[in-house]
Amino acid sequence: MKTMIVYTTRHGCVEKVVEHLRKELVDVEAVNLMKEKPYSLEGFDAVILGGSIYFGKIQKELSVYASMAMTELMNKRVGLFICAGHPHPDARLVELEQAFPQKLLEHAICKDILGSEIVYERLSTLDRLIYRMVSGKKASFSDIPVDSIRSFAKQLIS
Ligand SMILES: Cc1cc2nc3c(=O)[nH]c(=O)nc-3n(C[C@H](O)[C@H](O)[C@H](O)COP(=O)(O)O)c2cc1C
Repeated sequence: MKTMIVYTTRHGCVEKVVEHLRKELVDVEAVNLMKEKPYSLEGFDAVILGGSIYFGKIQKELSVYASMAMTELMNKRVGLFICAGHPHPDARLVELEQAFPQKLLEHAICKDILGSEIVYERLSTLDRLIYRMVSGKKASFSDIPVDSIRSFAKQLIS
């Protein structure tokens, strides 16, 4: 099964998830919408869309892409994921449900929150300040749930 991963990331957590997904899937291509233009989805059986949440929202590049590619996506096996660090699981679920169009959420075979990471040293001064205010923390943090990523990939291709 040929899979395309279309993703957005600000600090690299989503990219780490994409690298894990690559290991679980056989024939995979990935496009970072923050750096590259998306290719045609022709010939791909499955498409994964993944992005990260800042101030409650996914990157605009990904939501615009999801809406633009909707007709094609409705004919593919679709997986949707976010990386999100909100401390409350229910709030992260709400963020996932708000990150993608309703039609796509209903069509998706799998959708999940696949981790969160903050590399404190890489944040801008403003982001550090906001992160400190929201979380009360100054330290880096990483939680990449490899088992959940594996089961997400399995669901998509089985
Ligand atoms: C300034 C800032 C704002 C954030 N806002 C949210 C938020 O509103 N909700 C949330 O769940 N996570 C939030 N996060 C956590 C990120 O979603 C999380 O660190 C994610 O793994 C980042 O992925 P990326 O490195 O691929 O961009 C925020 C992080 C920072 C630094």
